Amino acid sequence: MPRWYGPGSRAAAYPWTIHEEDELRSAKDFFRPLAVGAPEPLREIPARPSRAIHFFDPSNEKMAAKIPGMVGKVDVLLGNLEDAIKADNKVAAREGLVRIAQETDWGPTQLWTRVNALDSPWFLDDITTLVPAIGDKLDVVMVPKVQGAEDIHYVDRILAQLEAKAGLTRPILVHAILETARGVANVEEICGASPRMQGISLGPADLAADRRMKTIRVGGGHPGYLVRQDPVDGDIEGDRGIYQQDLWHYTIARMVDACAMHGIYPYYGPFGDIADVVACEDQFRNAFLLGCVGAWSLHPKQIAIANKVFSPSVEDVRHARRVVAAMGDGTGAVMLDGKMEDDASLKQCLVMVELAEELAKVDEGLAKQYAAIEVDQ
Ligand code: GLV
Ligand code: MG
Repeated sequence: MPRWYGPGSRAAAYPWTIHEEDELRSAKDFFRPLAVGAPEPLREIPARPSRAIHFFDPSNEKMAAKIPGMVGKVDVLLGNLEDAIKADNKVAAREGLVRIAQETDWGPTQLWTRVNALDSPWFLDDITTLVPAIGDKLDVVMVPKVQGAEDIHYVDRILAQLEAKAGLTRPILVHAILETARGVANVEEICGASPRMQGISLGPADLAADRRMKTIRVGGGHPGYLVRQDPVDGDIEGDRGIYQQDLWHYTIARMVDACAMHGIYPYYGPFGDIADVVACEDQFRNAFLLGCVGAWSLHPKQIAIANKVFSPSVEDVRHARRVVAAMGDGTGAVMLDGKMEDDASLKQCLVMVELAEELAKVDEGLAKQYAAIEVDQ
């Protein structure tokens, strides 16, 4: 299957990593099911569009009633069982998700869930309820507060056991949230811990707390995190420009590299200031430019922002197609509009062209815009 994004083709050849705790496990065994009768692990993570991962609370009946109407309009719908669901509603959320999943025809939309943390009183019941009841509908299980490969190994094995028991034929994939300092330190081994690993999301709220950062915002920038222009003529009281910096740049860049190296997908997480659609779009776009394929949506209006930002612009697709057409067999160099294009810039352009092709399959509006592009040399 062609990748719609991400430099996965190279990494796909080496999707395993041997860690200290894996020393005795042969690379040949990496793709063997972890339980007798469980489905074979996938060798490549399907490149399914996932620009917006829209969170819903399955215990909220009003919200749940809207879910079937959102199928086909958002790439991923995620039934949230973890933070933001009150302890008293945990069981109702779990049961609500089972009911909604069973009653809904998901069509082209993926169904994900975010289960409770591995050290919480709810994880075991979450996983042992969901897999037998709706394992055939669930595409991805998002695991919060992942600290290291050992957390993924635990989820990997229990999923295999439950899949085998339920007679599932397709493995459920795993997505980790990067939201602990130790998780960031171990991000490469987390990405390579299992063939189930589908991707990673930045969790800026928990991560800020765990690192003892001093922002109390959920994602986004902070006006205090800045650099200031040097004084003009030594006048430290005079006017000086200030440039706000991105608190999350380091973590996102690190996450993108770890995901790319393992052929899995990186995502921006939540942007809590729902009203500030402008800053949300900026933050999502930074993530897109750095290599992320999507972001979380906490409110329906963030779906439109993510769909726009994580889809290549018509101008970029036009330019990319021109380069592809001009580069012939893909070797050598050409000049286009006074700029040099070569084998490497062709690969950059192919990332855009392939992403546009995959998105056009699920998004009619985009398909029309991309189809109308005329490529002149
Ligand atoms: C998301 O779960 C976060 O903590 O930001
Ligand atoms: Mg969190």
